Amino acid sequence: MSEILLQIDGKEVKATEGMTILEAARGAGISIPTLCHHEKLEPYGGCRICIVEVEVRGWTRHVVSCVYEVAENLVVRTRSEKIDRIRKMILELLLAHAPDAFDLQELAKEYGADKDRFEKEASFCIHCGLCVRYCAEIKKKDAVGFVDRGTRKEICFIPEVAAKECWDCKECFPLCPTSALQAAYVLTEALTSSAPSSKPGS
Ligand code: SF4
Ligand code: FES
Repeated sequence: MSEILLQIDGKEVKATEGMTILEAARGAGISIPTLCHHEKLEPYGGCRICIVEVEVRGWTRHVVSCVYEVAENLVVRTRSEKIDRIRKMILELLLAHAPDAFDLQELAKEYGADKDRFEKEASFCIHCGLCVRYCAEIKKKDAVGFVDRGTRKEICFIPEVAAKECWDCKECFPLCPTSALQAAYVLTEALTSSAPSSKPGS
């Protein structure tokens, strides 16, 4: 793969063809916030918190750095007044869903986001999809998925699959930036615990 030279925050950065801006930045020790990204999973581009500014043929555009690929001589800025404003707005919208999420609170401090700006819709899930994608892509189990759409969208464990696969796994738990995943699992566990034969070895 051919080597690519680009500039991120004024620093010359070496990357390889096919890398995303996020990967190139992290490789150069430049931090960009993420909420739905996981290095073992396919790029998703859901939360948009990783937005950055790129200069392409003299035009400035805002792109999602976890999916946008590097290009020769690309000029990237990871912070600007506009980027910070966009991230602040995204955080305020997400905080309406999960006001107590530690990761969101930490980012809110950095970007001056007000957790009370929008009316609370405490579903606790910010739809990052990390749990769903990890279970599907890495574990190949599809034990957890999304149900419903729009504002009613939420995650749900498939009881028959969860009863067999999740007891000894739970690898998705630490990925969740809120408490939604654990709460959904506890609910599923409660629903399935009345079927003792469903737990392996029981
Ligand atoms: S439950 Fe957690 S990990 Fe799963 S989609 Fe919602 S916020 Fe993301
Ligand atoms: S981390 Fe890039 S869109 Fe979520």
